[in-house]
Amino acid sequence: MEKLAIIDCGGQYTKVIDRKIREAGVYTDILPMGVSAEKLQGYDAMILSGGPASVWESGAPTYDPAIFDMGIPTLGICYGMQMIVDHFGGTVAPEVKTEYGQIEIDVDPTCPLFAGLSKREKVLMSHGDAVSVIPEGFRTVASTGGVCAGVWNEKLRIAGVQFHPEVDPTVHGVEILHNFVRGICGLKETYALEDRIETSIRAIREKVGDGKVVVLVSGGVDSAVTAALLVRALKPEQVYGIHIDHGMMRKNESDLICENLAKLGLTQMQRINAEDAFFHTPLVIDGEQYAPLSETCEPEKKRAIIGHMFFVVTEEAAKKLDLDFETAFLGQGTLRPDLIESGNPDVSGYAKKIKTHHNDVGIIRALRDKGHVIETNWDWHKDEVRQVARMLGLDEEIASRQPFPGPGLGVRILCTDDGKTADAEKSGLLADFMAGQDVPFAAALAPIQSVGVQGDHRSYRSLVILSGAGLTPDFDTLYKTAKTIPNELNFVNRVAYLLNRREVGGTLHSVRSRICREEADLLREADAIVTSEIMRPMADGKCHIAQCFAVLLPVGVGDKFSIAVRAVVTNDFMTAQSAVPGVDFPEDALANIVRRIEAAGLPVDMILYDVTGKPPATVEWE
Ligand code: XMP
Repeated sequence: MEKLAIIDCGGQYTKVIDRKIREAGVYTDILPMGVSAEKLQGYDAMILSGGPASVWESGAPTYDPAIFDMGIPTLGICYGMQMIVDHFGGTVAPEVKTEYGQIEIDVDPTCPLFAGLSKREKVLMSHGDAVSVIPEGFRTVASTGGVCAGVWNEKLRIAGVQFHPEVDPTVHGVEILHNFVRGICGLKETYALEDRIETSIRAIREKVGDGKVVVLVSGGVDSAVTAALLVRALKPEQVYGIHIDHGMMRKNESDLICENLAKLGLTQMQRINAEDAFFHTPLVIDGEQYAPLSETCEPEKKRAIIGHMFFVVTEEAAKKLDLDFETAFLGQGTLRPDLIESGNPDVSGYAKKIKTHHNDVGIIRALRDKGHVIETNWDWHKDEVRQVARMLGLDEEIASRQPFPGPGLGVRILCTDDGKTADAEKSGLLADFMAGQDVPFAAALAPIQSVGVQGDHRSYRSLVILSGAGLTPDFDTLYKTAKTIPNELNFVNRVAYLLNRREVGGTLHSVRSRICREEADLLREADAIVTSEIMRPMADGKCHIAQCFAVLLPVGVGDKFSIAVRAVVTNDFMTAQSAVPGVDFPEDALANIVRRIEAAGLPVDMILYDVTGKPPATVEWE
């Protein structure tokens, strides 16, 4: 069988490349960046993934230079292209061009990689470095604003692209990858995707035998699929379902989940109310003392506490069932992106941590090392889990349900102390930048940060608030401005637009906030309004939104909190676009949200709409 090697340079989307090539009928292996040319013998082609490093850094990860002498067709993606350029004598440098998000580039359709495409293509970029000098023997076959975005060496059959053809925002990405594997490499369709359900059932039976599994069910499609596969693979008395309400669920969420879970065939199921334990328990995690969640502001600490508490509460519940995890297994719906974003070394030795997902904290990793965690979705992205859910016959309501992160509202209540204002120097830089833009918006730097993913790195940067036309901005110009600001100002990764008035109207300052019942209740009310308005069907009878929620922001002109509305369109959740009113959700939704939040008398200052994609932001704010 013909096979293609994917060299993992630590990119966020390495596994997506792998899937796209397998879907094209070509067998793949993901190999670490340091793989020797000798080990690559027998492969017919290779793809070098993206990655967080810079080729010009002294500490850049090393590779075997002989891999480029093997004479096999090669495609470098993002960092992979920069590796090629650097290896063959060109130059890659910082501050040539920084781009995060979907942009239009010029491509040369006479290059076989772009055969059949038009001269302008929409692609996904996420890079801080760029090519400034292309190597001899290569020609530029794609560019953005005069900067090289693609190289091709006909003789060596080596191509490189600065953008990411593997993800959905690159509109003709599938065609580009097909052009590579078929047109350039001449690989035929010789590989059929394995039967995921059969493989998974076999693996569960092998691992569990006559043992017992305690499966954590959050209500989302991921854990529902894990539970359904366990029920299929094992006897009913071997599987125990546990749902933990940690006090940070959405309005009525836990009731709905428990109703849905009954449909999965789990005969032993319990719901645990653990708000008090989650909010108020001080912990020692990996030898470090942690204050309780209700006294913690730092997002990664909040994530670590919540993830750890999930296990503590589960272990206690297991004890009552006469089980312990020395003998029993823990079942989780962990997805590939959870592990990639958590920087799990078993998934990639080179990827950087973006955020700690609750299902990949230290205590879980230790249990995994002992072989006592069952994760049926370990290799899959969200869209694959949804496919499996449908194949398993799960209710469409579960299969297409919008995700809700394990830490719940805990990562949607941003926490900080009182009275901070935005950095004066950075506010000045923002003002200077806006003065050069011919746009009908004012911009204010907010004194809060949120998490983003930029060039395969985690970022924790400032929020910019745009204002000007209340509920009727020109969304085209708004999205263009929102894209330009993080590309040009390296201290910004998120932009939101002010809906409920035309100007910020004063100095923004932070408002003290901590995880507590009152804050969670306020967010639950706002979130219920936001989701009911945005998650409505469009003209085709379908809801186009992949995920939608409200975020509680500890910032305002007065002493009240503000609310941000987040709504995104995506399939795999590794990238996402901010949903466009009138296109992705009903045009009147934002006005209705403002009206209903005001009518409900919720004590909020600003109501914002998050207009940032992933990258540069993430879907969640923390
Ligand atoms: P981000 O914010 O990384 O989110 O763009 C991508 C998707 O993952 C969800 N998410 C989580 N899911 N545990 C989960 O089970 C977590 O810790 C977690 N953090 C983010 C997020 O809601 C989105 O669907």
